[in-house]
Amino acid sequence: MKTSKIQHVVIFSGAGISAESGLKTFRDSDGLWENYKVDDVATPQAWEKKPELVLEFYNLRRKQVLNAKPNPAHFSIPKLEKKYKVSVITQNVDDLHERAGSKNVLHLHGEILNSRSVETGKTYRLKNAEINLGDLCENGHQLRPDVVWFGEYVPNIVKAIKICESADILIIIGTSLNVYPAADLINDIKSSCKIYLIDPKDVTIKKIANITHIKKSASEGLPKLVEELLKF
Ligand code: OAD
Repeated sequence: MKTSKIQHVVIFSGAGISAESGLKTFRDSDGLWENYKVDDVATPQAWEKKPELVLEFYNLRRKQVLNAKPNPAHFSIPKLEKKYKVSVITQNVDDLHERAGSKNVLHLHGEILNSRSVETGKTYRLKNAEINLGDLCENGHQLRPDVVWFGEYVPNIVKAIKICESADILIIIGTSLNVYPAADLINDIKSSCKIYLIDPKDVTIKKIANITHIKKSASEGLPKLVEELLKF
């Protein structure tokens, strides 16, 4: 008897999937990196020099995340779980995929709703919206946001590569593919993997051919693609 293999759909998301939930992207006009310098708020050196500014930046973004709601793009992904094995790899530090019901979410750049001890590396779910200087872990060490800063190792990259290697369908959504090693993940897929890109703008993708570009916003493009994939 022939058994049909359940296909593995991998969603690789970036800030654009949360744009219609009211969260700013990084590199669009009026994006976060137009209003802040990366070197001032998102590097280990910034943390050493001006930890108050770093904490203020993430405290503000955390409040925005807590006030945001998942949009139709986030909500469409768990529907795929009826028919496919689904993995979400996200560069986003928000929890909108989880709140929309996705079960299998890997955060490449950390989670803004967690704090992390600067000494032990242990993470804690935050009980309120802020981390301030003097907020300590149970061993007496300062807490920092549990996010990956520029120049830091990306702990989940090895897991992400493994997930991409077994993808049958890859959906890249809302990312400019400017940040590494995340942007290199698309080179870890099998040659037979079908690739969809959902982004209203052109995105430069090196080395990969045969991509279907759905030039629409996330909340318009993804629910339609999900409907199509559920019909096969
Ligand atoms: P970017 O701001 O670089 O790219 C956002 C992408 O989303 C662009 O290609 C936009 O065209 C697209 N976009 C905008 N609105 C959209 C919408 N409504 N629907 C679909 N797409 C839309 O954000 P990322 O690629 O996620 O890292 O940035 C990657 C990393 O750079 C972030 O995780 C962060 C940042 O610096 C760290 O902080 C380590």
